[in-house]
Amino acid sequence: MADSTLAVEFRNIDKAFYGVKANDNVNFQLRKGEVHALLGENGAGKSTLCSILAGLYRPDAGEFLFEGTPTVFKTPKDALAAGVGMVYQHFRLVSNLTVAENLALGHPKLGMSISQAELEDDARQLGEEYGLPVDPAARIWQLSVGEQQRVEILKLLYRQAKILILDEPTAVLTPQEAQQLFKTMRQLASEGRSVIFVSHKLHEVKQVSDRVTVLRDGTTVGGADTADAEPRDLARMMVGRDLELPTRDAQHDVGDAMLIVDDVRVAGDRGLEAVRGISFEVRGGEVLGISGVSGNGQRELAYGIVGLRTPTSGTVTVDGEDVTSLSVADKIDRGVAYVPQSRLGMGLAPGLTTEDNLGLKAYRKPPYSKGLMLAASVFKERGQKWIEKYDIRGVRPGLPIRLLSGGNLQKALLAREVELNPKVLIARSPTRGLDVGATEAVRNLVLAERAKGTAVLLISEDLDELLALSDRVLVLYEGQVAGRMPAEEATPERLGLLMAGHKEEAAT
Ligand SMILES: Nc1ncnc2c1ncn2[C@@H]1O[C@H](COP(=O)(O)OP(=O)(O)O)[C@@H](O)[C@H]1O
Ligand SMILES: [Mg+2]
Repeated sequence: MADSTLAVEFRNIDKAFYGVKANDNVNFQLRKGEVHALLGENGAGKSTLCSILAGLYRPDAGEFLFEGTPTVFKTPKDALAAGVGMVYQHFRLVSNLTVAENLALGHPKLGMSISQAELEDDARQLGEEYGLPVDPAARIWQLSVGEQQRVEILKLLYRQAKILILDEPTAVLTPQEAQQLFKTMRQLASEGRSVIFVSHKLHEVKQVSDRVTVLRDGTTVGGADTADAEPRDLARMMVGRDLELPTRDAQHDVGDAMLIVDDVRVAGDRGLEAVRGISFEVRGGEVLGISGVSGNGQRELAYGIVGLRTPTSGTVTVDGEDVTSLSVADKIDRGVAYVPQSRLGMGLAPGLTTEDNLGLKAYRKPPYSKGLMLAASVFKERGQKWIEKYDIRGVRPGLPIRLLSGGNLQKALLAREVELNPKVLIARSPTRGLDVGATEAVRNLVLAERAKGTAVLLISEDLDELLALSDRVLVLYEGQVAGRMPAEEATPERLGLLMAGHKEEAAT
């Protein structure tokens, strides 16, 4: 018997990529008029499930019922025609077109004559109605990431989507933007539409969803009415074990200022100044968290400190020595360690083995280097010791490091940096994209550095993480410091306002 309250039903869905089972016996029911959270760790199969529903992938096996009828969407266009649309983790807008033009793109109405003014009116009205304000005449490249996301959602509403799939939408939003999006989601559900909300953040799932389905290792491990679900139980389902992420202890001694950044300016990629006069100190044994929406100067600030880009003015001092103009190698010698955002590429050499990667930074010093000869046996021995010590899993002798999972790559990278006994550790989004188990390990490594007396600069867009690890927090906005405060005074709301450039409101 078909259940008329169901919008979509997945029965025993399988989907593999090159032998890797991304979805393995997935069961999922979506009702009309609900916000349904899809909760799971990285790699759990959430995006795959969503992409099947959105017509991007075809399942290998299993049944897919759309409003009670077995259905196959061959393409995203098919799905959209049936009323199913998805906002992908990586947006797909055309950046040279305006908001209104993007809405019209591929739209059936476009064949008929519809004026630019009409289009813009439609876009504006829809935006107002659903709490998704954007300037319809703006070109996509001029918009913030949050605004681009609104355009993606408007695009689906413009096509009268009945089922909206939002894949990790809050990952790129400030807390306030996320709250606004939640209101929009509730509004859509109240109109009888269905919203699939993908997230690995429990508090968001608790707040906005009616029901939740949990995926782990590609398979459905549970589901519940959200109101009845304890966060602890959901976490256990998601991870497969009890787990609490480590946080810093408040009582803690700090040393002298180890890293001093004084009125530093750094150029951006397009000749514009990306860091516009930033000053701060980090003491030994202290974690300074740098927050901000991506693209507000974080990357260039890190480059300026580690030597990847020389500041155009200002000074960087490490342990009393002016290192502003030193090369990366000389800064490493002075005790500056760096964990970049892209692990493969900037951090690790993808084609080398794990052992070789672990030795990469120390190779110019004994015992690795005897004159010009690199002692291969030393590389190997040390590498193996560290692999064990840092619990780096999946290493196969002789095979390149790029075959490791994200979490293990990150452990390797951090192991290499902290084994140099740095004075200053700069880490950018060190747990981004990692599962909870690996996140735990990486957080413990960062906190161990703090305990050892290293000055840690933690640059991250993940506010939960910043608040869990930092002693003080500084907010970047358009290349300048929008605010700074001890962690005790930092709330997601206050940081969010500063991240969005509202200094005054944040102060009250
Ligand atoms: N296009 C693809 N090609 C190869 N492997 C993929 C592809 N998409 C997903 N996978 C793999 O399938 C698994 C599930 O991925 P995904 O659905 O993206 O998980 P999630 O969205 O929950 O993080 C992962 O192991 C991932 O590496
Ligand atoms: Mg995903």
